[in-house]
Amino acid sequence: IPVEDFDLVIFGGTGDLARRKILPGLFRRFLAGQMPKGARIIGAARSELDDAGYRKMVDEAIGEFGGVDAKRADLDAFLAQLHYITVDARGTDGWSELHDLIRFDLVNAFYFSVAPSLFGDLAERLHDYKIADDDSRIVVEKPFGRDLETAQALNNTLAQHFDETQIYRIDHYLGKETVQNLMAVRFGNLLFEPLWNNHYIDHIQITVAETVGVEGRGAYYDQAGAMRDMVQNHLMQLLCLIAMEAPSVFDADAVRDEKLKVIRALQEPAPHHIVRGQYDASKTAPGYREEAGNPQSHTESFIALRCEIANWRWAGVPFYLRTGKKLKARSSEITVVYKDIGHSIFPGDEKRHRNILRIQLQPNEGMELQVTIKEPGPGGMRLIDVPLDMTFAEALGPDAEDSTDAYERLIMDVIRGNQTLFMRGDEVEAAWRWTDPIIEGWQRRGDVPKLYDQGTTGPEDALMLLHREGRRWQGIK
Ligand code: BG6
Repeated sequence: IPVEDFDLVIFGGTGDLARRKILPGLFRRFLAGQMPKGARIIGAARSELDDAGYRKMVDEAIGEFGGVDAKRADLDAFLAQLHYITVDARGTDGWSELHDLIRFDLVNAFYFSVAPSLFGDLAERLHDYKIADDDSRIVVEKPFGRDLETAQALNNTLAQHFDETQIYRIDHYLGKETVQNLMAVRFGNLLFEPLWNNHYIDHIQITVAETVGVEGRGAYYDQAGAMRDMVQNHLMQLLCLIAMEAPSVFDADAVRDEKLKVIRALQEPAPHHIVRGQYDASKTAPGYREEAGNPQSHTESFIALRCEIANWRWAGVPFYLRTGKKLKARSSEITVVYKDIGHSIFPGDEKRHRNILRIQLQPNEGMELQVTIKEPGPGGMRLIDVPLDMTFAEALGPDAEDSTDAYERLIMDVIRGNQTLFMRGDEVEAAWRWTDPIIEGWQRRGDVPKLYDQGTTGPEDALMLLHREGRRWQGIK
């Protein structure tokens, strides 16, 4: 869908996120013909640069992170739409100039790609210098607070100058293709929805496994841990999309109202339903504590937990969530495990037969439905379980493979003014309301994460979490 001309200001325009994700993403949208000629991207940061210097920096960033083999002419045309302005977020420098640069008759958006401690300063200056008006949009990144109190403070700060309809809180998992497909599959087919409840579903698993460690982000990560870094936002969003009721219409508030109800109904897991882990040093690689630069750290780089949603649809259905770093594979998967069939009519068939719907988010996007059929051949009525493979690239052909990065999709939604895939303030607060007591419980009890070997599935106890209930993890095992 084409967008209108716009001015997009990126605060922190020289920073890591801008160079790795935002600017290369915008370039790919440009290549896709989605950036109108009259659109401008204005980098804003403290460094003293001019337009030419900024274009050079972005040129290099695209070379490094763009993931495309671009023609020089395309690059030059894109770079010509870029500008730069030096601003001091906490001072007065640059703000009047920024005001003079903005074209108020067009869509304008301000991306806060800076530390959350600067959100308030930026919001205030945009307001005081009359740079943002009632139609402007602001985009904010995670971490959105580190607990309920800090998230509320951030929401209140932004609310002093902006209406909720102007605030776009990014959770990049909502920009992933399969995550959106989840809604299409659930609400675009008759086949799944009637069985999508505690009468037919035994349990649901969500795994987001990474092979990377904390790398250069140790200082941030050690204050966060997997619970704050991944569960409170990304896994919670996946859980909401899986568990929510059908909104009456696919629009921002209808969808977010339904997600909020799920978070509010989410029960606090019992302490013995949570397993925390921390990756150990191996012969060749440093462990978490060394990478994080904190030899005493009790921060978890892995977490697995079992929780329940107390509502009519889901009462009694366990949801198992698991995420961690330095695991054996990069794999994000949602698995819906149906109940066993009630009674087998086939003599001698003692195996449990159950349908399993696997929704693979990454690395390969697709879905697979395990069904039971007769084993081919003359051997009689012997049953086997086979996958009905719906890998999108295979079903739709390689051209249908969508390489659009989550960020580029979400930035274009900002320009279009579509908030459906962004978190509303009350959603973020509700997620912290669930997370906070869990973390407080660890602190109160002096909980220490279990060490696990790199390249595995995490601590043994995480396997036990399911084994003792007669279940097992799907996905990475
Ligand atoms: C980020 C977390 O939000 O998501 C990182 O801060 C994590 O720790 C990343 O590695 C995972 O994102 P993706 O898209 O690679 O699954």
